[in-house]
Amino acid sequence: MVGKKIILAVTGSIAAYKAAHLVRLLVKNGAEVQVLMTPSATEFITPLTLSTLSKKPVFTQVIAEHEWNSHVELGLWADALVVAPATANSLAKLANGICDNIVSAVYLSARCPVFLAPAMDLDMWKHPSTQGNVQRLKSYGNHFLPVGYGELASGLVGEGRMAEPEEIATFLAAFFQKKQAFLGKKVLITAGPTYEAIDPVRFIGNRSSGKMGVAIAEQFAERGAEVTLVLGPSKLNPQHPNVTTVKVESAQQMYEASVKHFEKMDIAVLSAAVADYRPANVAEQKIKKKGEGMTIELEKTPDIAASLGKMKRKGQFIVGFALETNNELKNASEKLMKKNFDFIVLNSLQDAGAGFNFDTNKITILHRDNKRKDFELKTKAEVAVDIVDEVLAVL
Ligand code: C5P
Repeated sequence: MVGKKIILAVTGSIAAYKAAHLVRLLVKNGAEVQVLMTPSATEFITPLTLSTLSKKPVFTQVIAEHEWNSHVELGLWADALVVAPATANSLAKLANGICDNIVSAVYLSARCPVFLAPAMDLDMWKHPSTQGNVQRLKSYGNHFLPVGYGELASGLVGEGRMAEPEEIATFLAAFFQKKQAFLGKKVLITAGPTYEAIDPVRFIGNRSSGKMGVAIAEQFAERGAEVTLVLGPSKLNPQHPNVTTVKVESAQQMYEASVKHFEKMDIAVLSAAVADYRPANVAEQKIKKKGEGMTIELEKTPDIAASLGKMKRKGQFIVGFALETNNELKNASEKLMKKNFDFIVLNSLQDAGAGFNFDTNKITILHRDNKRKDFELKTKAEVAVDIVDEVLAVL
C-alpha cells in the first residue's frame, strides 16, 4: 500500500471508534490517508484523534467557516475511497445520489474504487430497504466488506458489526496487489463473431455477442495489463483506458490484426467465434434472385489460433476456447494440443445458461497435462475473473 492515496470516510456509527485503529494500520502500511467525517461521526470520535493519527487535517464539511474543501479535487486525488463505518443512512444516500455532506459529495466525485464497510444493528442491516441499497451500490461496482456476526451496541446478537480494521486493511492490500498483477504485460484478445461477405449486403455470420471476450479484456485491464482487443462485429464498446479496441469484420481481417500484434504480446486469449469457411467469391453487386435454389461455394478461412500457436515463442502464453455440443472433453483436448494452446476453456452448449448471447457461462478449463477444473454457472464477468486467475496461477 506504499504511496497509495486513501480517503477514509467515517460516518456516524459507534463503530467509528475503530476508525482510529484503521487509520493507524493504513499509515503504518505506507498509505497517505485523508480522513473525512460526517457531522454525526464527530459525535462518536473527535476529528483531532483522526487528524493526529493521519497527520493531516480532517475535513468534516464541504464548506467550513474558513475553508472550502473541494470534493472534486478530493475525489480525483484518491486511489481508493473507504467508507468505514458506513451507516444505513449513508448507504441510502450513496445509493440514491443524495449529496448533502462531504462524504456523499466526494463519493459522487470519486473515480477510484470504493469500499464500503457497513455497520448497524441487525434489523437495520436485514431490512429490505438497506439490502436494496446494498444491491444497488454493488451494481455500480462498489466493493463491500462483509459485515461480522456478534454482539452489537444494542446488546442484540446478529449480523451488522463492521469488519475489523485488520480485515479492511488486508482487503485493501490484496485489492491493490491484484490490480498490479499484470502490470507491464501485453495481452491480445480476439472476441465476437466474424462476418463473411457473400455480396455487398449479405454475409455469413454467427450468434456470438463478444460478451465473454470483452469481459476478459476488461478483467486483464483492471489488473494492470495493456490490452489489445481484436473485436468482430459486436454492439459492445469497452471503455477501459487500458483496452485498445481494433474493430474488424471478417476472419481474414481478424487474422491480419492478430498476427500483426501477436509478436509484441505476452498473453493471447482467443475467444472469438471465427467463421471456418467463407464464400470463395464475393459478388461485387447484390446477387439477384433466380431459380429455385442456389449454391454458394465456400473456402476455408485462416485458422488464427493455429497460426499464433505456430508463431508462439518461449514465454508467450495462449488460451484457446472450444464451444462443443458433443464429445466435449475429447474435442477440446485435441484442439488444445493441435493449436498449441497453454490451456483451453471449454463451453458446452448442453449446459443451460451457457454460450452465445447469455450473460452467464459455465466453463471447464483443461490443461496440457490433462488437469481439469470445472466451474459453476456464473456471470461472464465472474467467469472472466476465473480465467484470468488461472492464467496468473500458471504463470
Ligand atoms: O477449431 P475450433 O474453431 O473449434 O477452435 C476454437 C478455437 O480456435 C477458439 O479459441 C477460436 O477463437 C479459435 N479459432 C481461430 N481461428 C479460426 C477458428 C477458430 O482463432 N479460424
